[in-house]
This record gives sequence, structure tokens and C-alpha cells, in this order.
Amino acid sequence: MRTKVIAGNWKMNKNLNESVTLVSEIKNGLTSLNCSSEIIICPPYTSLETVNSLIKNTAINLGAQNMHFEDSGAFTGEISADMLKSVGCNYVILGHSERRKIFLETDEVINEKINKALDEKLKVIFCIGETLTERESKITFKVLEEQIVNGLNNISDEKVVNLTVAYEPVWAIGTGKTASPEQAQEVHEFIRKLIAKLYSNNISQDMKILYGGSVKPGNAASLLSQADIDGALIGGACLKADSFLEIIKIAG
Ligand code: PGA
Repeated sequence: MRTKVIAGNWKMNKNLNESVTLVSEIKNGLTSLNCSSEIIICPPYTSLETVNSLIKNTAINLGAQNMHFEDSGAFTGEISADMLKSVGCNYVILGHSERRKIFLETDEVINEKINKALDEKLKVIFCIGETLTERESKITFKVLEEQIVNGLNNISDEKVVNLTVAYEPVWAIGTGKTASPEQAQEVHEFIRKLIAKLYSNNISQDMKILYGGSVKPGNAASLLSQADIDGALIGGACLKADSFLEIIKIAG
């Protein structure tokens, strides 16, 4: 049995004060929930250190939304794995479709980041997903296979066990459109089989595969009950404590 993972991607939302309010509400809400899922929150860089101090001695994990693959140097505006660890992160989201589309990150760059993060003992949430055009052109599986094969190029068995995949159809992110539970399950099953082919059956059975894209309290139960959906990566609905907590409650 894989434990469920509920991760909140705050994106470019919440200044420091707002972050303190949100994390305090989440923390308080969690005390009255009998939660068996793994909880991860990914605030903006500017709030990481403060949020970390507020979640000490709780079961909440801290993640960043991106990082650079170099150790240090002349990379204005970038953040290293070591910097993230120094403010308490144990997770990092890599390959988010917004990084791919707006910031032109390629599979190769994402692969370098994954490699570096895992070397530095940060756990990775590796995002993949097809666009609407790709889905309509019936190349969803081909696109996802390419993203996975390239993103995991030269990532060893020992390292990949610290990676979680997040399937986020681009057409479902922030649009209010969700993949149907059956559509999502079909893709998750495909991903699990591909991981078995690339690694081993054991690794694929243990790997968590999250769904992301307009997950909210109203659709979480049907998505999370699918055999190969091990949790959710949540954007919009994680910005309010009550909806994030509601999804955590649904996850069990
Ligand atoms: P959304 O975002 O829940 O707002 O669709 C999900 C994500 O981008 O991770």
C-alpha cells in the first residue's frame, strides 16, 4: 500500500504575512484531523524560512517550486539545492508545466535539475503533462513517455526511489477542467508500466504518482480512489486552508 501524498503548490502567491496566516491555519486544522497522508507545502522562496520555523515538530514537509542545477556562481536570480536545504526544504517541484512553457525549460534542463536535487538528497516532485493540442492529436502517451525518458535519463535506481511523479495535464491546470478519474487513471497506469520498464516492477509499485490540475474538494474523492492515483498536487485550492484541509481529509 502506498501512502497518499497531498502537496500544495502556492506558485507566486502569498507574501510573508499571508504565508504565516495560511500555514498557521493549515497547522491548526491538521491537529484535529486524523491524517495518514504525507503533507507537503511549497510556498514561494521568500516565505520558506519562516514557514519552516512554523512547521517544526509537525508532520508537514517543506518544498520549493524550482531550483537551479549548479552549486553556486553567476546565475542571477537563481537558487541552489544547498540554499533550499539550508532553509528547511526536503522537497522540490521540478518540471512544472509553467516552468516548461513560460520559462522555456527543456527536458534536458529538467533532467539536470532532477539529478542535482537527488544527489543533494532533496526529494523531487517531477511534473509531466500534455497540452490540449497534444491530447486532441492523440499523442498524449508519446509526449509523456518522452518527458519521462528524457527527464529520468541516467537517474539510477538508488536515486529514483526519492522521486514522485506528478501527472498534470496542462489543459487542466488553473482552468477548472479536470481530467475525468478514468482519463487520469489510464495515464497513471501507463506511467507506472513505463517506470517498471525503465526500472523494475518493485520500483514502479512503490513509486507515488500524483494527479494535478484543478483538484478541489468536489472532485478529490473520485480522483484519489483510482488504483494508480497516489495523491494530488494542488494549486488554486491550496491557497485557502479550508479547501486544502478538506482535500487532506478526503485523502484519509
Ligand atoms: P491547479 O494547479 O490546482 O490550480 O490547477 C495545479 C498545479 O499547477 O500544480
